[in-house]
Amino acid sequence: MEIIEITLDELDADKFIAEKVDEISSIVGDGSAINALSGGVDSSTVTILGHKALGDRLKTYFIDTGLMRQGEPENVVSLFKDLGVTVDLVDAKKTFFAALKGHTDPEEKRELITRSFYRDVFVKLVRETGAKYLLQGTNYTDIEETVAGIKRQHNILEQLGIDPDEMYGYKIIEPLIQLRKPAIREVCKALWLPEKIYNRPPFPGPALAARVIGEVTPERVETVRNATTVLEEELSYSGAFQYLAILHEDKVTGIRKGKRDYGLQIEVRCWESTDAKTGSPTRLPHDALDRLAERITTEVPGVVSVTYNITKKPPSTIEAV
Ligand code: XMP
Repeated sequence: MEIIEITLDELDADKFIAEKVDEISSIVGDGSAINALSGGVDSSTVTILGHKALGDRLKTYFIDTGLMRQGEPENVVSLFKDLGVTVDLVDAKKTFFAALKGHTDPEEKRELITRSFYRDVFVKLVRETGAKYLLQGTNYTDIEETVAGIKRQHNILEQLGIDPDEMYGYKIIEPLIQLRKPAIREVCKALWLPEKIYNRPPFPGPALAARVIGEVTPERVETVRNATTVLEEELSYSGAFQYLAILHEDKVTGIRKGKRDYGLQIEVRCWESTDAKTGSPTRLPHDALDRLAERITTEVPGVVSVTYNITKKPPSTIEAV
């Protein structure tokens, strides 16, 4: 089925919300659904649309994959509690790290993350709740990039020939599939979600695993997580579309306490973009780069080198994996 984009100019957010609420209600009927909330713009928007349509018949979960940023599981659950939405925290760290163990190929890692979500975690949740539907915030860019063969986005199944009902026993509803990020932000805003959600920089479904080159282990994720904490503190002022820290696989020679020290390399990317389709590096002031290098090498154990990526998308992509 061809999916036709609704551009930001074409979007009437209130009308879109009313239509999607009706659509979700009529598809689910008197049954129930589940959805996974990460706290990003897309999944937050879907969560509120779903609750408007289904009320308590939508069960919302935060899947703690072990790949999220510092404090994220608790912060998202508490933020949505304040908005009147109960979010159950699911500890799936073991599932994800066991699946990723020993794998270094980027597409393979993405596929394993997809499988852990859909085959391991969601199947269990639909069984427990009796739900027949999974609501998710797939957007137009996710589809486009997967179909174009750029990257398998973690939430794409149908376009890769996978029928979730046949394979996993539940159907998927994707209310945002015709929208790109700027239009989703408008819908999110029209749903009265707070600015810290509708203006949140994008964060990928595979989370910090999209930023670990090579094997994704708890220790390596912890390094990227610590670097991300510093980077987000330093760059939130920048107004950039997205900023991220990447852990490289190779070690490099550095100096600590006057002696040779083979250490880790962190690459910083900071993007100007409107829809993630193309992007260019933000012209960050050199002082900001200096501070990042200083803080990351002193606050993140083992790091001796920090680089700034100056490539555009394309040929780069926004994430490293
Ligand atoms: P790339 O790396 O393909 O990213 O240039 C484009 C935008 O999409 C985000 N991204 C993802 N989002 N699932 C998602 O929900 C994914 O698998 C995924 N991979 C990348 C990325 O952060 C950027 O905003």
